[in-house]
Amino acid sequence: MGRVRLGLIGMGMIGKLHAETMSRMKDLEFVAASDVDAKHQKTAEELGTKFYQSYEEMISKEKLDGVVVAVPNELHLPIGSTCAKKGLHLLMEKPIAADLESADRLIQAAKENKVHLMVGHHRRHNPLIEELRNIVRGGKIGKLVGVTVLWSLYKPKDYFRGPFAWRAQPGGGPIRINLIHEIDNIRYICGDITRLYAEVSNEARKFAVEDTVSINLRLAGGAVANIFLTDTAPGNIGYEANTGENLFFYHSPENCYIYYGTEGVITFPKMKKFFYRDAAKAGWQFPLCEEGIKIDREDPYTRQIRNFCGVIQGSETPKIDGVDARKTLEVTLAIQKSGETGQPVVF
Ligand SMILES: NC(=O)c1ccc[n+]([C@@H]2O[C@H](COP(=O)([O-])OP(=O)(O)OC[C@H]3O[C@@H](n4cnc5c(N)ncnc54)[C@H](O)[C@@H]3O)[C@@H](O)[C@H]2O)c1
Repeated sequence: MGRVRLGLIGMGMIGKLHAETMSRMKDLEFVAASDVDAKHQKTAEELGTKFYQSYEEMISKEKLDGVVVAVPNELHLPIGSTCAKKGLHLLMEKPIAADLESADRLIQAAKENKVHLMVGHHRRHNPLIEELRNIVRGGKIGKLVGVTVLWSLYKPKDYFRGPFAWRAQPGGGPIRINLIHEIDNIRYICGDITRLYAEVSNEARKFAVEDTVSINLRLAGGAVANIFLTDTAPGNIGYEANTGENLFFYHSPENCYIYYGTEGVITFPKMKKFFYRDAAKAGWQFPLCEEGIKIDREDPYTRQIRNFCGVIQGSETPKIDGVDARKTLEVTLAIQKSGETGQPVVF
């Protein structure tokens, strides 16, 4: 097989980033992009790719192997299914679909048409996350005891205004938009989540959607985890700001995760490990050793597209397929449910 031929559907906030990424990559052909909004034609031309206002026209006129789909969540199922019927492999932005029933239908459509369905939980492609997973799964901090996740980044008022007013309405809150990434990271690094309980609040902004969430989780291996998230306090702790992965976010080199094991504790993204070197001097009265872990950085969005190309060529498996991404969505939706009912959810 020669260079993989890709198209893009949706050139909004994340679609533009995919367009820029694909236009830089030599190992694929970025054949065409589409968006119902004609203003994106200029960007497509600047990036040297063809532009269509109708994605149906794009997929019928162009010879493509796969498409990256970056449209609003409700369109993931209809657009994804149409592309699957055309035999196109899918890199679908996260969440896999707007709800679990749509996710099932999309997984089925991909299966029936024998195309791969990969989902854009791009953090799995970040070398920092991969290393954290290797450390935890490789027993390098002993048996995992618990995890702390913090996310406190302030969303400006404009984020909720004009064409973005949907973000203040059900379906648009930080649980589905932001927290889903934290759930997927925990699942990717630690394994399945077996039970959760959430307190969900909209006290600060008084929107129909939440602004602050506190969650307790039980993990399959026996460890426990907690997540605190708010988009209404001027905080400097949150994956996007702390990793510097996407410099749209003001870069603040703090830690947002702590992973606790019986033999050591590791902070993320500073990737510092704390432990006792001498078992005879292990205890809270003794000083700890601190060890830095060196990791070569690489852009996760580029690695994600490379994985998609490898999947299409048959040389790689998807870092996250439809079934796995459905599980992440299921847990994320259960947080909302637990907040509404005041009850834990068991999986
Ligand atoms: N991986 C990430 O970190 C990340 C970040 C942001 C958004 N997302 C996901 O990406 C998707 C898009 O989010 P966004 O923030 O870029 O939204 P957006 O509103 O900025 O962009 C969506 C684009 O889709 C276009 N569109 C709508 N209907 C279309 C159609 N029928 N054909 C072609 N184009 C169409 C719109 O005109 C718009 O340009 C969502 O599913 C979202 O959850 C993922």
